[in-house]
Amino acid sequence: MLVCHCNLITEKEIEEAIIDLLEADPWQLIVPAKVYHSLQKRGRCCGCFPNVVETIIRVTEHYHLRSDASEVDIVSHMDRVRELRVQYGSRNHERRNAGHRAA
Ligand code: FES
Repeated sequence: MLVCHCNLITEKEIEEAIIDLLEADPWQLIVPAKVYHSLQKRGRCCGCFPNVVETIIRVTEHYHLRSDASEVDIVSHMDRVRELRVQYGSRNHERRNAGHRAA
């Protein structure tokens, strides 16, 4: 599935890049720019970043659940990773609030 239409990057390529980064340092905070840099790409419109953040969260969580790391360390690290939604937006929060009214 194509995630980034500007750079023609698939979800599988993003997942593999995240795993490569985690293999190098399992506790680093991976952000979309770091993933794109490892793929020798750059964000252009950055409209794909909320989806990339969700992929980072999902792949990082699965990676650590398969590791021997303690549950406390994993929970603490995943809290930091999930905060990326605040910085980059979340595809779950792209819609307007129910109480939103146009002027
Ligand atoms: S869709 Fe990924 S940078 Fe535009």
